[in-house]
Amino acid sequence: MKLGTTLYTEQQIAARIAQIGAEIRRDVPVDEPVHVIAVLKGAFVFLADLVRQIPGTVTMDFIAVSSYGAGSKSSGQVRLLKDLDRSIEGRHVIIVEDIVDTGLTLSYLHEILWARAPKSLRTACLLSKPSRRKVAVPVEYTGFSIEDLFVVGYGLDYDEQYRQLPYIGVMDGID
Ligand code: IMP
Repeated sequence: MKLGTTLYTEQQIAARIAQIGAEIRRDVPVDEPVHVIAVLKGAFVFLADLVRQIPGTVTMDFIAVSSYGAGSKSSGQVRLLKDLDRSIEGRHVIIVEDIVDTGLTLSYLHEILWARAPKSLRTACLLSKPSRRKVAVPVEYTGFSIEDLFVVGYGLDYDEQYRQLPYIGVMDGID
């Protein structure tokens, strides 16, 4: 297996993230803080670029869940590895995800976060693979919808590699 073609360049990603930042602020009143929750590890690059494109007050926190192990196959089980540091009660929360694949991770996060009484809860994902969805889960902001490909870069890994790539590329040779 090896790194194949580039799917989205740094410039294409930056342009789309600027649009998403503006869309988020259109949905959350400008005098109210946006509380961004990044899902580790994959969302760390997207988070860094997205928060700089949201006008007004932005606060952030991090949550970590297990998804894939070493490799490209999902276990189908989601576990909380690191919880939030602060309460989200009464806040406008945006979950920031690198990619929504089966939707299992996101539906788990919805369940545990809605129980904490946020004022609103929305999701921004950089990438989405709609054809792979196993559970229906709302995603308000999607960077790009893609085919059933295994992608790396811009925070996304294959066995912990490639997260640092500034673009999104396709891994060849994964079934
Ligand atoms: P889901 O629970 O199946 O929606 O999976 C979500 C998680 O799986 C993402 O946050 C990623 O960490 C990982 N994932 C899914 N597809 C890919 C991919 O194409 N490349 C790298 N990681 C992926």
